[in-house]
Amino acid sequence: MATLSLLLCLFLIVIAFSLAESQSYVGVNYGQVADNLPAPAATVKLLQSTTIAKVRIYGADPDIIKALANTGIGIVIGTANDEIPKLASDPNYATQWINANVVPYYPSSNITLIIVGNEIMTSGNQGLIAQLMPAMGNIQTALSSASLNGKIKVSTVHSMAVLTQSDPPSSGLFNEGFQDTMKQLLSFLKDNKSPFTINPYPFFAYKNDPTPETLAFCVFQPNSGRVDSGNGKLYTNMFDAQVDAVHSALSRMGFQDVEIVVAETGWPSRGDDNEVGPSVENAKAYNGNLVGHLKSLVGTPLMPGKSVDTYIFALYDEDLKQGQGSERAFGLYNTNLTMVYDVGLAKNQVPTTPVAPPPKTATDWCVPKSGVSEDQLQANLDYACSHGIDCGPIQPGGACFEPNTVASHAAYAMNLYYQTVGRNPWNCNFSQTATLTSTNPSYNGCVYPGGS
Ligand SMILES: *[C@@H]1O[C@H](CO)[C@@H](O)[C@H](O)[C@H]1NC(C)=O
Ligand SMILES: *[C@@H]1O[C@H](CO)[C@@H](O)[C@H](O)[C@H]1NC(C)=O
Ligand SMILES: *[C@@H]1O[C@H](CO)[C@@H](O)[C@H](O)[C@H]1NC(C)=O
Repeated sequence: MATLSLLLCLFLIVIAFSLAESQSYVGVNYGQVADNLPAPAATVKLLQSTTIAKVRIYGADPDIIKALANTGIGIVIGTANDEIPKLASDPNYATQWINANVVPYYPSSNITLIIVGNEIMTSGNQGLIAQLMPAMGNIQTALSSASLNGKIKVSTVHSMAVLTQSDPPSSGLFNEGFQDTMKQLLSFLKDNKSPFTINPYPFFAYKNDPTPETLAFCVFQPNSGRVDSGNGKLYTNMFDAQVDAVHSALSRMGFQDVEIVVAETGWPSRGDDNEVGPSVENAKAYNGNLVGHLKSLVGTPLMPGKSVDTYIFALYDEDLKQGQGSERAFGLYNTNLTMVYDVGLAKNQVPTTPVAPPPKTATDWCVPKSGVSEDQLQANLDYACSHGIDCGPIQPGGACFEPNTVASHAAYAMNLYYQTVGRNPWNCNFSQTATLTSTNPSYNGCVYPGGS
């Protein structure tokens, strides 16, 4: 009996540990540019009904910080951009800031990170850029004076525009114009074991290239993948590609050990009529698959086996935001505390949206029947590649170029066409020269999308 309880106990500890371990990567941005948000206490209750482990607020609203006390939820707070000149020039102002916004609440409110400035580096404001490091330095010093250094980290958030190059991911490179400040920043982050924080938005990548194949790549749905021509790694989603581009840029400057944190990423559920991409379906696919991806601990091709801490944008729609309709529709929850759509964050819930490959296990791929003539295969190849699919992988240098035969290229293209246009039996016809198979035709390095 004793042994049994001990075993049960161990079992529960293992379960609890693995749940905690797998759920700690998902955070959410609690933006407040709205006039209809629930009270902080109601929001905290909502958060506690989910597996969301951390929240980021854009300022240091004391009501929110207090409401989060004794919940264990990690809290990221921020200074306003227009406080940077004073923080940079006046160490006393930085001390006052910490004494007013952190000291009274910590540790019962689990403040973990202070963001000094949002997307300053790409703001074009040279004065502000020059003041960024002095401001961060003064905040760090003020934390040390309060004996909070090491417990609370200091960083600044970047847009993806700090990279001049991000495709393929291995070519990731910071804009030359920022490299002096960037070098100082990275040394600061390394010395203080603080994260490099960035806002990747596959949503905008899709807006720039609104094809079905790119959509699938951006929302973690089955797609042909993209092979990084620099290192041969296969990418099956844009999130990993963008995060790895940042990793490559950090490596290029010798700071590959600085942790990357995704401060914002998300997808809007509505938009203006002229916007491509916003929809409940796409938002649910992106955010739901992202949550599944983070929980799976697969990591990225360059950083496998560990998830990147990621704050989804956003908790609620923000009705007072400027800009296109989509700007006001990134929320996961309605202001009456119901879900806009389900992304599998409720406590004790298995992700509702299946995680996209890899690896695939079942069921169908579309391939040529045996005995089809080379002319017919060439016709099928031409047809598929001229109907909106990405035939890059069967071009020279692509992962599926070898073997360089019409039969092999046609098989790849026919399957991709089938997977892309709808996966109906009639999409695998090609004048009755194609057939469905449950045998995955993928071979070393060449992935045939399909299977679920
Ligand atoms: C504070 O939040 C961080 C990040 O979620 C977490 O790792 C840590 O365990 C939390 N601390 C406490 C005391 O709950
Ligand atoms: C909550 O708000 C959403 C969006 O406005 C609405 O569709 C839904 O019916 C509301 N639910 C309840 C229970 O009020
Ligand atoms: C394939 O197309 C032919 C006509 O070209 C048609 O007779 C046949 O039913 C189609 N097969 C499927 C599975 O749709």
